[in-house]
Amino acid sequence: MGNEEETWVVMKTARAPSNIAVIKYWGKRDEKLILPINSSISVTLDPEHLSATTTVAASPAFEKDRLWLNGKEVSVEGVRYKNCLREMRARATDVVIESSGKVIRKEDWNSLHIHIASENNFPTAAGLASSAAGFACLVYALAQLMGVQEKYEGELTAIARLGSGSACRSLYGGFVEWKMGQEIDGTDSIAVQLAEESHWKDLVIIIAVVSSRQKETSSTSGMQESVKTSPLLKYRAEMEKAIKSMNFTEFAKITCADSNQFHATCLDTSPPIFYLNDTSRKLIGLVERWNRHAGEPQVAYTFDAGPNAVMFAKNKEVAAQLLQRLLYQFPPSADTDISRYVHGDQSILESAG
Ligand code: ADP
Ligand code: DP6
Ligand code: CO
Repeated sequence: MGNEEETWVVMKTARAPSNIAVIKYWGKRDEKLILPINSSISVTLDPEHLSATTTVAASPAFEKDRLWLNGKEVSVEGVRYKNCLREMRARATDVVIESSGKVIRKEDWNSLHIHIASENNFPTAAGLASSAAGFACLVYALAQLMGVQEKYEGELTAIARLGSGSACRSLYGGFVEWKMGQEIDGTDSIAVQLAEESHWKDLVIIIAVVSSRQKETSSTSGMQESVKTSPLLKYRAEMEKAIKSMNFTEFAKITCADSNQFHATCLDTSPPIFYLNDTSRKLIGLVERWNRHAGEPQVAYTFDAGPNAVMFAKNKEVAAQLLQRLLYQFPPSADTDISRYVHGDQSILESAG
């Protein structure tokens, strides 16, 4: 390789959305294989607003694996990138380059280097699950490039998991469960779809970006520090039932409780980790007061490892009201500038003015 005739490049581009957990993953039983201490459930967001777009390329002219994230070169030497690349190379197949008819043999992938360029269309490392979109997208793009077919359902989700736990859930749309699994090699720690995108049509998701700043404590180190004692497990079966039956009241209660328990766990960590800020707390207050006055939940909130809110409105009418209240109570100012993303139907944004 490396001679003048060998100047080809083959590349693929993919896009993967972020996902937000309604039953959070927070804590690992195996740091290397990224095996969680509990199963988790999330909803995959709209790629329009929150997604990673990744191009992967291979060429005999490349001298090493390289990665550019949001236009800046970053190290690809970390174990997570290495693990994903190794597992994908191990599953690569013979690939024919359509334009030239050239065949890249299965075994060639071991010596071919990969260049990766990825961009997020939303804040990176700010608690909106960029690691989830990023690694799901990387694994999916590599599967396209290397002609990888799953040998069992969820195999790619297990590889994305090696990049970032939450990433396994971003390979499917709709509501997704990451099953914690039992095997020591992690082969059964995979994501499965609980309900498809179109399942719960009334539900509207609004993401309020309170701050795009990079968080001080990464999810990885945050959960390492956290001592897990909350009995989150008992909620899991109830959440699955609430989603399947589209019971918003139950869904909202469990979602808010899980988010609050997760942040209580962060605060209970020594030294304490603060992911929520004043604006996050005001948003919680707004929703709690609204729900109390209404007599039953109209809106649910959840916050990942960052101050940015993901809110679920019971239906379109509630979503439009929620947007109006957000615009009224959080006008752009020196210290608050809430930008709002609506997942799905954009007409709500327009109707809210
Ligand atoms: P977040 O809440 O955004 O998921 P994390 O602390 O979990 O924050 O992860 C952020 C890290 O994920 C980044 O520092 C980077 O290593 C990785 N990451 C984010 N986006 C991408 C991407 N598009 N491609 C590859 N890696 C990414
Ligand atoms: C609060 O998946 O980012 O968003 O596996 O160490 O990469 P690593 O952590 P990550 O943690 C996500 C934590 C969370 C909850 C969740 O997404 O379930
Ligand atoms: Co993350």
